[in-house]
Amino acid sequence: MTSYLDFQGIGKRYGSFQAVSDFSLQIEEGELVALLGPSGCGKTTTLRMLAGFVPATEGAIQLSGKDITHLPSFRRNVGMVFQGYALFPHMTVEQNVAFGLEMRKIEGAEIGRKVEKALARVRLNQHAKRLPRELSGGQQQRVALARAMAIDPAVLLLDEPLSALDARLRHEVRAEIRQLQKESGLTTLMVTHDQDEALSMADRLVIMNQGRIEQIGSPSEVYERPVNRFVAEFMGKSNFLQGAVAGDGRFMTRAGESLGAASGALAAAACALLSFRPERTRLCAADATVAGGWNSLAARVLRFSYLGPFVEYRLALPDETEVTAVLPNAGEGALPELAAGAAVSVQWQVRDSRLLPS
Ligand SMILES: Nc1ncnc2c1ncn2[C@@H]1O[C@H](COP(=O)(O)OP(=O)(O)O)[C@@H](O)[C@H]1O
Ligand SMILES: [Mg+2]
Repeated sequence: MTSYLDFQGIGKRYGSFQAVSDFSLQIEEGELVALLGPSGCGKTTTLRMLAGFVPATEGAIQLSGKDITHLPSFRRNVGMVFQGYALFPHMTVEQNVAFGLEMRKIEGAEIGRKVEKALARVRLNQHAKRLPRELSGGQQQRVALARAMAIDPAVLLLDEPLSALDARLRHEVRAEIRQLQKESGLTTLMVTHDQDEALSMADRLVIMNQGRIEQIGSPSEVYERPVNRFVAEFMGKSNFLQGAVAGDGRFMTRAGESLGAASGALAAAACALLSFRPERTRLCAADATVAGGWNSLAARVLRFSYLGPFVEYRLALPDETEVTAVLPNAGEGALPELAAGAAVSVQWQVRDSRLLPS
């Protein structure tokens, strides 16, 4: 049984530079999968290999059980929205949407029907005769989307579809794209470097780094159970303690403190990291008792930052390891008054403690 869309060890080499290595991923029909990673990690190259704009140098791609690795781009039935808007500025909205259909030599009346249907989907029928510059940024983005969907693609590719929009509009359009994708059931592969965008839109995430896949999983899997330090740091913020896995759900910090850890995939190892999220911590009096299921370490306050909905404490452990605690801001007077230098105990639950390779 192969999946709807199947990347089998795809790779891309430019001269001696390996931009993408051993990329394997199975996508089911109707899924929205996001490729996420820092700039230059190979996201766009991977999309372009699927679209047929860049030939793969290794591996194979199957779509609907058919090998498309060496098919020319126009025979792949892939709709793509490029980084930025990339609408033709001198063409009207409907001419822009018709473009891909004309390229595919579809007959005139049929083109008219498909353009109308695509524009209706993104609710822009009334603006069919306008030029791109007579539309807002969000509307232009919807035209680009309509153009990609008009060809009834087997898969829709979105490369940083929201990067040209301001922050407020980005939230709106991302909800809209997700809604449209669910309604149409279009299998979609999206590229982004924005964690929030990926977490809020995708069924599954593929975290990439330097041309390689670090982890594949649902948003909560990747956030709650990162497999290594790169993913833990890239998806939100994490604290890391260096030490050793003592076996049996115990971790020994370098400073000799024994902590509990959720049973990770790590066997007893001389060198490991224990990670925990700043927002899963609490600060207690230095001499507070520790409840069962909780870890506790003595710490001293380095500085306090007021962030509006949250407050952040930067703390130093006795061995000078720094950790961060982020607490909800419960209102004036409710904040612990902790001056720099104050002694506290930072506490977090064993179940929020994750063991990672060092
Ligand atoms: N045509 C090319 N020739 C040489 N190197 C390229 C070419 N296109 C992309 N690269 C390199 O491949 C790497 C991945 O690029 P890209 O896929 O665009 O990254 P991303 O989309 O994740 O930011 C980058 O280091 C980039 O400089
Ligand atoms: Mg890119």
